[in-house]
Amino acid sequence: MGLPYLSRISAGAFVCLFLIAAFCRAQDRNPLAGDPKAAKAGEYEFRINCALCHGLGARGGGRGPDLTRAQKKFAHSDADMFQIISNGISGTAMPANGTNGQGVGMTDEEIWQIITYIRSQEVKAPAKPLGNAVHGKELFYGDANCSLCHMVEGKGGRVGPELTGVGGSRTRDAIIDSVRNPSRRLAWGLSEATKEFPQEYESVTVVTQEGKEIKGVTLNEDSFSVQIMDMNEQIHLLDKSTLRSFQKSRQSAMPPYGADVLSDKDLEDIVAFLLSVGAK
Ligand code: HEC
Ligand code: HEC
Repeated sequence: MGLPYLSRISAGAFVCLFLIAAFCRAQDRNPLAGDPKAAKAGEYEFRINCALCHGLGARGGGRGPDLTRAQKKFAHSDADMFQIISNGISGTAMPANGTNGQGVGMTDEEIWQIITYIRSQEVKAPAKPLGNAVHGKELFYGDANCSLCHMVEGKGGRVGPELTGVGGSRTRDAIIDSVRNPSRRLAWGLSEATKEFPQEYESVTVVTQEGKEIKGVTLNEDSFSVQIMDMNEQIHLLDKSTLRSFQKSRQSAMPPYGADVLSDKDLEDIVAFLLSVGAK
């Protein structure tokens, strides 16, 4: 067993080295940098493949970050950006080139055009954060009760999505909208490699055969079974055929926070806190 196994590893390592070398040679600088015609073509590609998540004008949408910020989380150089657009960011909703989420596969040239376009849209002076992140953190874990349902950096509840990364992947406006009008757009849960689309956080109420009512959010569902997290963070895996009743709703399990409960200023502070965590 020893020898063939070893040689497989070294063959694999060799292929990797070869790929890395080829990658570095071909893709360390943008051959189309600053070319206005390329930026125009890139804008067209962007609309088809990226705007769904990153918004029109790359200013961010409900599902992807604002790409006009000069300070990016991963895509510092053009080469980083090429790599991210080609391979996606694993563990996040950012898909690889040519996979389900991102339309038809793009050529290297088209990817460089998109990068030229994104660079042309960047705002050079980063916007100053509007809120006070320190106060926002106090509210999040304190009076505003967000941490009853949400975890940030390992602290908090689990009924709602983990929010450590939300500031890096959602815009300020999208976060504000999620707090003021939670039901307007339900958050997506973690995507699993085997699933084409991640599950949304739909609310669900079931009655089991024994007559027990369970209310919570859907973590996962297929034709036969449903996985629910109830409001006490217990996870239930239920066989749908055995349930007395099964009702789903697009009314978020998160209460809407009107301006009477949470002022614009306090919400801005919470957003500043989430953005500061997300930018790390
Ligand atoms: C299905 C939604 C989706 C699509 C489609 C999508 N993205 Fe993304 N993208 C994301 C998300 C979400 C992130 C943030 C991941 C994270 O950090 O959590 C991201 C991150 C990025 C980043 C890194 C940003 C940074 O701050 O470093 C770049 C660059 C990027 N996307 C470019 C693109 C381009 C170009 C396209 C189209 C070719 C595209 N994306 C299509 C969801 C998407
Ligand atoms: C009773 C539980 C609960 C409380 C309290 C709560 N949330 Fe939520 N939150 C949820 C659930 C469940 C979702 C997923 C459904 C949805 O998108 O509305 C969610 C979604 C979100 C999203 C969208 C995340 C995404 O990935 O798009 C944000 C942002 C958010 N909450 C922020 C907050 C903030 C800030 C507070 C405090 C001011 C708060 N939540 C209080 C349960 C809660």
